[in-house]
Amino acid sequence: MTTSRARARAARDINRETFVEPWPEAGLTVDHSPADPQPGLRMVDGHIVELDGRPRDAFDLIDHFIADHAIDRRVAAEAMALPALTLARSAVAIDVPVAEVRRLIGGCTPARLVEIVNTMSVLELMMVLARFRIRRTPANQAHVTNRREHPALLAADAAEAALRGFAEVETTVGVARAAPLNALAILVGAQTGRGGVLTQCSIEESQGLRLAIKGLTSYAETLSVYGTEGSFIDGDDTPWSKAFLAAAYASRGVKVRFTSGTGSEALMGHAEGCSMLYLEARCLLVTRGAGSQGVQNGSISCIALPESLPGGVRTVLAENALAALLGLEVASGNDALASHSAIRKSAKLMLQFIPGTDFIFSGYSAVPRRDNLFGGGNFDVDDLDDYAVLQRDMLIDGGVRSVPEPDVVAVRQRAAAAIQATYAGLGFPPISDAEVAAAVTAYSADDLPERDLTADLAAADAFMRDQRSIIDVVDVVSRAGFADVAERLMMMGRQRVVGDYLQPAAIFDAGFQVRSAINDANDYAGPGTGYRLSGTRLAEVCRIPQQQAPQAFIEEQIGPPAPRLAEYAPARRGSQCEVVIGVGPAFGVSLTRTINGLEHEDVLMALLNGIARQGVMARIVRVCHTSDCAAIGYAAAQLSGSGVSIGIQSRGTTVIHRRDLPRLHNLELFSQSPALTLESYTAIGRNAAGYARGLTPQPVPVTVDNWARLRLIVKTALLHRRETDAVRPVPPIELRFDWEPDA
Ligand code: 5AD
Ligand code: CA
Repeated sequence: MTTSRARARAARDINRETFVEPWPEAGLTVDHSPADPQPGLRMVDGHIVELDGRPRDAFDLIDHFIADHAIDRRVAAEAMALPALTLARSAVAIDVPVAEVRRLIGGCTPARLVEIVNTMSVLELMMVLARFRIRRTPANQAHVTNRREHPALLAADAAEAALRGFAEVETTVGVARAAPLNALAILVGAQTGRGGVLTQCSIEESQGLRLAIKGLTSYAETLSVYGTEGSFIDGDDTPWSKAFLAAAYASRGVKVRFTSGTGSEALMGHAEGCSMLYLEARCLLVTRGAGSQGVQNGSISCIALPESLPGGVRTVLAENALAALLGLEVASGNDALASHSAIRKSAKLMLQFIPGTDFIFSGYSAVPRRDNLFGGGNFDVDDLDDYAVLQRDMLIDGGVRSVPEPDVVAVRQRAAAAIQATYAGLGFPPISDAEVAAAVTAYSADDLPERDLTADLAAADAFMRDQRSIIDVVDVVSRAGFADVAERLMMMGRQRVVGDYLQPAAIFDAGFQVRSAINDANDYAGPGTGYRLSGTRLAEVCRIPQQQAPQAFIEEQIGPPAPRLAEYAPARRGSQCEVVIGVGPAFGVSLTRTINGLEHEDVLMALLNGIARQGVMARIVRVCHTSDCAAIGYAAAQLSGSGVSIGIQSRGTTVIHRRDLPRLHNLELFSQSPALTLESYTAIGRNAAGYARGLTPQPVPVTVDNWARLRLIVKTALLHRRETDAVRPVPPIELRFDWEPDA
């Protein structure tokens, strides 16, 4: 037997996920494993002879590299003598200088690093990210790909991503040989959107290097490293070959970031029974030892594996925090599709979003999920408005701007035209005007015509074979009349030679100024310090396009004052069998329609008809001294010959009251004003008359709309304010209303 509630929950998105029990022997454990070594270090003559319990003659390739290149041997003895808890506490204590903590972290072994972060809660790890993130200003990276590898769509999407504020844009390929075309399309597109956006194409590494040498890319991120020798060798690499590759990129002015992340070793079958976090600590030391300025981590393509295990999401944050503690630029994941559940994916995002990282997403999918060749983004183009609202809600700079739709269309148009001109100038297969037009407004690649892939690939092969480079691209873009785009492309080429953006965590701001951990160092040290949203960026985050002027919310409730309603005398107390209708101070004057859009005069007629049909008399009074519904009804009841009244606020909220009841008690209350129709008001009149005659009618049924308050709360507040503005300290006034009872 199951409850219906359990069946309903079983159908929810969260129950489409995979959850598994830990199995340490298979590496399916996030932060502890019996096979993880105990922290330890032994040095002889300044050389490490034992690392985490393993003597030098038993070192694998990774141990050798870490011992000789990654651990700061000048501080290792001092650092390893400190208990993990001491270092962990200094890491979250805002009065201990970051530089001092980092100096000591530099002397720690992989197992000690794990021990340190394993003492921390998620909240403390977030604090570490906020303090140790190396660039002060947070930023974001975008993914731009599409299923057809359509150049016009790639260019348009890259331009839009650049306009939306992404500091880096990367693409990848479905077909490997398309790499130069895709790299070219996002390069031209991104520079059309905003000068200085860094771009890359994620492909096999020698190809990646060749694209970079031609000037088609400005950063390289997927230099993958692994925590066991077996996985490294499967990847055809060693720590030394990665270090060499990194140097090759950097020597050509290309920004380098390594990639690692929990789960890769288990996925490759080479976890050696170790925990994901221990292996990641080894990766991060290899990354540092190889001289990379930064890392893309946070599990990346493997994210669903740690997320299937208990504590997985915490561990992914811990690996980001470890990288930051080590002084590496961190592009903190949130890229690959990791959850079916919108609740879970948003909650996970907060761990990086709230503290801020150098790149909160190491690939926000700036395209629809179907078009994301990185395997589908965890957040994509459909989530952009949600993301903008999260920034606005928390006043957090998540690195993304809201852009008015006409600007989006304009920049997409220009970028698609620029890549069209580039293809024409380089003699590539033409991009038609129809393709350009489709790319501007497309939702996805399905809205674009298919291209002749063979012809495109032949052009790509030829481009890679000959001597053409970014200089030729600048030339054709300039000749086609895109002078500003050509200038920015040229500037990207110049910056390659200047090399300032090789500094740690460097990005370009709008004026091609480098912003890095050197000139924009994170100086967070508690309240009032560090990056704060302010000035124009604060205004930009607050001003989402959906935001409206408050006045707009109540425009339709304000019309010309009701012509048939007039005040004529101070209200007196009656003695007949009657219902007194008390209306609010603004009723029919400064407000003329209910929240439901009903004319106040029509509402009065409905009430009066309902009363008249019971053969009961009615009078109308304006209650001036209060805007409160119960108080209006109560005041009217004091004047009623029968003791029964109807109190109504201008927004339509209504009460049936009686003289002998306490003010906040009543006969019937209709608090859901948006649900009240003219039929409801007639029924309310009928019931009030019934009470006046001493009967006990069935209460008028009310519909409850759970969403009404959420939908209308701003409107309600503004209507109530206007009613309250009309309050005057005078006794109730008798109103004259010209009406004819209906048949
Ligand atoms: N460890 C190492 N490299 C990774 N990549 C993705 N996830 C990981 C990981 N956990 C790299 C691979 C992949 C690219 C997108 O990033 O090289 O091809
Ligand atoms: Ca990335």
